[in-house]
Amino acid sequence: MLGGDTATSYSMVGDSPELLGFGQLVKPEQSVLRLARIIVAPDKRGLGLGACLCRLLLTEASSYTGVERLTLGVYRDNPAAIALYSKLGFAERAPHPRPEIMSMERVIDRG
Ligand SMILES: CC(C)(COP(=O)(O)OP(=O)(O)OC[C@H]1O[C@@H](n2cnc3c(N)ncnc32)[C@H](O)[C@@H]1OP(=O)(O)O)[C@@H](O)C(=O)NCCC(=O)NCCS
Repeated sequence: MLGGDTATSYSMVGDSPELLGFGQLVKPEQSVLRLARIIVAPDKRGLGLGACLCRLLLTEASSYTGVERLTLGVYRDNPAAIALYSKLGFAERAPHPRPEIMSMERVIDRG
């Protein structure tokens, strides 16, 4: 059986059709979007693409009417991802039901 959230998926590509990165925006409730399944191709990490992908998704998120906050969940043993999200203004918020996961959040900046 297949299951899961209703998500909008985004692929990041360069000049070639090679897939550089992938991410999703999930809308769990009216005023919230969740950043999910962020991944950069293993041989392209550390080049700034993860930050670029997330910034593009933040811009996309700001075009959703009525959305005020972006949330995400990240494993506490993933320092690269936590550093990336912190750099982009996400901060730890309410505890996640699973202690190994950190819930992070930031407000949508519409300039
Ligand atoms: C997390 C991930 C998306 C980061 O992508 P990336 O392209 O390597 O990241 P960037 O090069 O854009 O780096 C942006 C920031 O992330 C942090 N970062 C990236 N790699 C890091 C590492 N190995 N260790 C610590 N911090 C790291 C740094 O803060 C960095 O900023 P800086 O270069 O100014 O120091 C990538 O490592 C990945 O795909 N990991 C596997 C999937 C995953 O864990 N996804 C997150 C699920 S919640």
